[in-house]
Amino acid sequence: MSTIIAPSILSADFSHLADEVKKISDAGAEYVHIDVMDGTFVPEITIGAGVVKSLRKYSDAVFDVHLMVEHPETQIKSFADAGANIITFHAEATNHAHRIIQQIHELGLKAGVAINPGTSLSAIEELVEDAEMILIMTVNPGWGGQKFIESMLGKIHMLYHMIQEMETDCDIEVDGGINPETSVDVREAGANILVAGSAIFGAKDVAKAIKEIRGKEITHHHHE
Ligand code: DX5
Ligand code: ZN
Repeated sequence: MSTIIAPSILSADFSHLADEVKKISDAGAEYVHIDVMDGTFVPEITIGAGVVKSLRKYSDAVFDVHLMVEHPETQIKSFADAGANIITFHAEATNHAHRIIQQIHELGLKAGVAINPGTSLSAIEELVEDAEMILIMTVNPGWGGQKFIESMLGKIHMLYHMIQEMETDCDIEVDGGINPETSVDVREAGANILVAGSAIFGAKDVAKAIKEIRGKEITHHHHE
């Protein structure tokens, strides 16, 4: 499986978002990762559906919307209408994750479920078969530029094996502290979609940063 790069526009210049999105797409990124924070699930407030709708006019890229919000079920329709392609919500924010996956599918989009560093894989085990993507947070959500939490590598690897054993298709996205160094470890552990904010938007040469984070293709050998 080849690696997909999803630059997080949280680290972009918010006063020039359309240009920032164009910059990363021109530089070879497949996705645009859009961090939506509500000031309650996490302390800060960032981007709403209106901004996504405006950006949609300037980009054909895959919009990968990461909802860090309470009551995610109330936001799905707005972000779908705004032009999201993938909507990811947090397992910690709902008692009805499976129903929200259905809600996202009914709108014709791909569904992702995210878990915080302190949340066990058991929170998503029953969802792997129905969701298109599981997002393993490799920092505590809320801010860009934090340090990668090494102990998440075991969780990524366990999820990789869980998906193999279930013989299902499910992407593994990682988010937080991803740079050319940590990229190698998360890809070896089994992640195939890599979010990176500060390591891409903070780089002088964005195309070079994306290329370095993508790295060389890794072959996984599955042992029974
Ligand atoms: C954190 C966000 C991330 C963030 C990653 O709450 O979900 O997407 O932008 O930023 P970096 O890559 O700088 O850790
Ligand atoms: Zn994110």
